[in-house]
This record gives sequence, structure tokens and C-alpha cells, in this order.
Amino acid sequence: MKGFLGTWASLDADLNLLIQIAMGLALLAGTFLARAKHYRAHGVCQTVVLILNLPMIALVMWPSLHMRVLPKLPRHFGKRYYAVALAHGVLGAIAELLGLYILLVAGANILPHSWCFQRWKLWMRIELALWWVVLFSGMGTYYTWYVTPRLH
Ligand code: HEM
Repeated sequence: MKGFLGTWASLDADLNLLIQIAMGLALLAGTFLARAKHYRAHGVCQTVVLILNLPMIALVMWPSLHMRVLPKLPRHFGKRYYAVALAHGVLGAIAELLGLYILLVAGANILPHSWCFQRWKLWMRIELALWWVVLFSGMGTYYTWYVTPRLH
């Protein structure tokens, strides 16, 4: 089904784009909650974003990578269409996994002590920065695929 943003994107891709931007902004808002010492609200906000992103990955982004990018990678590795999505997918997977790890260490407190990092703030800042890099690379993917599409 065609999307509503007036590009070549499908409805799924347009929805994903808007939801991802909203989630990126929610993570920023959650950071300000921590600054204001509302730690519980901060934890809830960041956890909701992290968990909500799992169905977006499973239903929209992974199937797209799996069907449209991975099978053609060996022959078209250098092409922008594939390179931008692959870089985005690899960084996105790292961001999601690091986020889940932070959640387990800081939120759930169930990992053995030796598996836990101590410098929480540092890792949360790294995660936020990485997330925004991933968000921009996702927008780059959208732009390459649907705003300036070329035959690939
Ligand atoms: C972790 C945070 C992530 C963020 C913030 C994010 C953000 C975005 C955004 C804004 C788009 C553009 C909308 C669209 O085209 O659907 C997108 C698309 C895409 N992402 Fe992600 N993403 C993340 C994780 C991932 C992961 C883990 C993968 C790989 C499994 C991935 C693979 C893709 C692919 C292949 C597309 C193109 C989807 C399509 O248009 O059909 N992303 N992402």
C-alpha cells in the first residue's frame, strides 16, 4: 500500500519513519527526565521506546533487509542503495542490543555482578548518541530508497 508522505515509500515505511522520529525524540525527552532527577519516569520512558522498537524491527526493518538487501549484497556491495541500508542495519542492531543490555543492568538488576558495567551514565550517553546516528542513517536509507530512487 502506498504511503502518505508523497514519496515512493509504502505505508509501512512512512509509518516506520514517523514512529522512529517520535521514538528518537522520546529518548531525548527521557534524558531530560533523568537530568531533572525523575529517574523512575526516565526508566519507564527509555524502556518503552526500546521495547516498542522490537516489533518495528521484527515486522518492518528486518524483513526488508532480509528480502531486499541481503540476497543481492554479494554482487552489489558498493552500491549506495545497499550500502546505506546495510550500515544502518548493523549499527541499528548494535544500538538495540546495547540498549537491551543497559536495561538488564540498570533496570532489571538480574545479570551477575561481573557482567555489569559501573559507569552507567557514560554508557547511556553512548547509547543515546549511537541511537541518533542510527536514526539519521535510517533517514538516509529512506531518502536513498524513496526520495531519490535509481535503478539498482
Ligand atoms: C535501533 C534503532 C533503529 C532506528 C532508530 C531505526 C530507524 C529507521 C528509520 C527512521 C528508517 C526509515 C523508515 C523506513 O524506510 O522504514 C529505517 C529503515 C530501515 N531500517 Fe531501521 N532503525 C533501527 C534499527 C534497525 C535494525 C536493527 C535493522 C536491521 C535489522 C534496520 C534495518 C532497516 C531497513 C532495512 C530499513 C528500510 C526499511 C524499508 O523502507 O523497507 N533498522 N530505520
